[in-house]
Amino acid sequence: MKIKPFLTEHFFAKYEFTASHLLASSDCETTSIAELLELSGGSLAGLGALKLGYTESQGHPDYRRMVAEMYEGVSADDVVILTSPVEGIYLTMQTLLDASDEVIALSPAYDALHHVADHLCGEFRPWQLVPTRTGWEMDLDHLRSLVSSKTRLIIVNFPHNPTGYQPGRDELQELIEIARENDCWLFCDEIYRGLESGCDAGVTLPSVADVYEKSIVLNGLSKTFGLPGLRAGWLVIRDSVMREKLIGWKHYTTICPAAPTEYLAMQALSVRDQLAERSRAIVHQNLAICTSFMQRHAALFRWRPPLAGSTAFVEIDLEQLGRGQKQVTTSVMQYCHDLAKSHGILLLPGDCLGCSSEFVRIGLGRLDFPAALVAWEATLPSAFPALDAT
Ligand SMILES: Cc1ncc(COP(=O)(O)O)c(C=O)c1O
Repeated sequence: MKIKPFLTEHFFAKYEFTASHLLASSDCETTSIAELLELSGGSLAGLGALKLGYTESQGHPDYRRMVAEMYEGVSADDVVILTSPVEGIYLTMQTLLDASDEVIALSPAYDALHHVADHLCGEFRPWQLVPTRTGWEMDLDHLRSLVSSKTRLIIVNFPHNPTGYQPGRDELQELIEIARENDCWLFCDEIYRGLESGCDAGVTLPSVADVYEKSIVLNGLSKTFGLPGLRAGWLVIRDSVMREKLIGWKHYTTICPAAPTEYLAMQALSVRDQLAERSRAIVHQNLAICTSFMQRHAALFRWRPPLAGSTAFVEIDLEQLGRGQKQVTTSVMQYCHDLAKSHGILLLPGDCLGCSSEFVRIGLGRLDFPAALVAWEATLPSAFPALDAT
């Protein structure tokens, strides 16, 4: 049996390094090694003196200690350092699942969160986030109806890529109760945690690692901290048996973290608040610009503002969008390919994230977002005022 294709990566691979305007990226504005070291008070000489031997499989104890400080009740022993955040999804699913298991996963989702589990388990049940007029909702009754005695794992991602949804504390608690009552593992991907400035929601939820004993929590430095090229990620697993099993699988993937990444990740964690604050400020500013763009184009797009994270999921009225165009646009996929090829503007089709309706993902974390939005606006049916790119 073959695993489903990773459509997001396929789409990005085609255009990401040639398109002029990246309007779909989920990571926040990045920084150079020199800028990072200046901020952290580290030095290039320190990096240069680093020996390039093997590192500890579970990760450097100091690195794990710094990660543990981001949680309330987590110790360095509970942390497994990864060679990329996405590796944590693969390792978790390999460790937890076999063909007798059922899995429930919040949908839409970042491809890996669905496809690895779907590939390994007996039955995979998507659990749809529900679009309302102005946002998104979790249907917990629907979740209850999906759970069975064979459900081994529930997969969620808060703040959510692509919708920017984040549950309230009570809803999160109810979700955990459902997992607990049914003795299910809960995998929570928290890679956008700390980006709660959208719509002034401003509330960072407790990490699932701190409130549910049978959880596996993923995080890393790629999104909120703007360092995807470091390939730095970690899992928090408080169950020691499961953690050891997972490290056993890690020996077959990457064995241990890359030494330069560990060094730089520790520098980044020492200034994590500053890095996250910078990203929050960029998202906040872009969100305001995007909201007024969406208001101007309310006939073309339904805007559900994100509550958290660095992405939003925008519903497109393809018929309206095709007004006055020579060529008919039959699908969001075709629209995104055409936009990338003809105008160098990258939006991610919702199909890549398992969404069959007419949605595209936009990314709010980059400094050139305003200019990219101006470029997109210029392609829309005419008679709309241009944005000021400043
Ligand atoms: C929800 C989610 N989890 C995990 C990842 C993986 O992060 P990385 O590509 O840095 O490994 C991504 C990347 O887009 C993501 O959106």
